[in-house]
Amino acid sequence: MTNIAILGSERVASAIATRLKASGKDFVVGIVDPEMPSDRWTGPDTKFMSTSKAIAASDIIFNATPGETSVAFLGPLQPELAGKVLVDVSNAMRRDEAGMPIGLFYPDSSIAEHLQAALPDTAVVKTLNTMLFAVMANPDCLSSMPTVFLSGNEASAKERVRALLLTMGWQEEVIEDLGPITSARGPEAFMHFVPHIIANHGFAPFALSIAR
Ligand SMILES: NC(=O)c1ccc[n+]([C@@H]2O[C@H](COP(=O)([O-])OP(=O)(O)OC[C@H]3O[C@@H](n4cnc5c(N)ncnc54)[C@H](OP(=O)(O)O)[C@@H]3O)[C@@H](O)[C@H]2O)c1
Repeated sequence: MTNIAILGSERVASAIATRLKASGKDFVVGIVDPEMPSDRWTGPDTKFMSTSKAIAASDIIFNATPGETSVAFLGPLQPELAGKVLVDVSNAMRRDEAGMPIGLFYPDSSIAEHLQAALPDTAVVKTLNTMLFAVMANPDCLSSMPTVFLSGNEASAKERVRALLLTMGWQEEVIEDLGPITSARGPEAFMHFVPHIIANHGFAPFALSIAR
């Protein structure tokens, strides 16, 4: 039996929760202050709980919090996260004084690698970060199903995440296992494109895909 937690309560967390619910999967949602969920939560009715309680109740945990603060946020939770799978969907950019993205937060590395280093007893798997949130939950919404990447050091953890992606509507042939956690650098670098795509097309759903 897989117990799933989602950390965060905004667009990504809501989208993942909506799809898990539609797929018949139970989940809990962990947030910093369970009394104060984000008013951007658009997922199904749920009882919010503290981050620690949500992690304790689960063996697969989605990180749907900002990538810039994920290591500082999750690193201290090393004991709670030991032995679990952390599905990292986060992205992170450095920004200028006007808030405009100017480069990757971890140039020459990745959030996923930093999380794995901070959480040595946790299997970090990077996935789903190369698309707008609407696509994560609805892979059929584009003209063709985009690629969804997997990066992680533990094959068994990646298999569990692959199985979860399949239940969320992803098809086996679009799942691309890139290899170890260092391979998350590629998908995370997609953020260089994102502000320009949004500037051109607004928030119309989009995703990175490998064509063959
Ligand atoms: N939006 C997209 O289309 C998209 C696509 C791909 C990947 N991503 C990535 O997915 C993640 C979530 O994105 P999002 O757009 O849903 O929202 P977000 O603005 O990145 O924040 C999501 C949640 O993170 C929590 N949070 C905020 N600051 C925090 C901190 N300092 N420490 C711990 N938790 C904090 C908040 O939850 P609480 O309720 O607990 O306060 C908030 O609801 C981000 O890393 C983003 O880069 C987003």
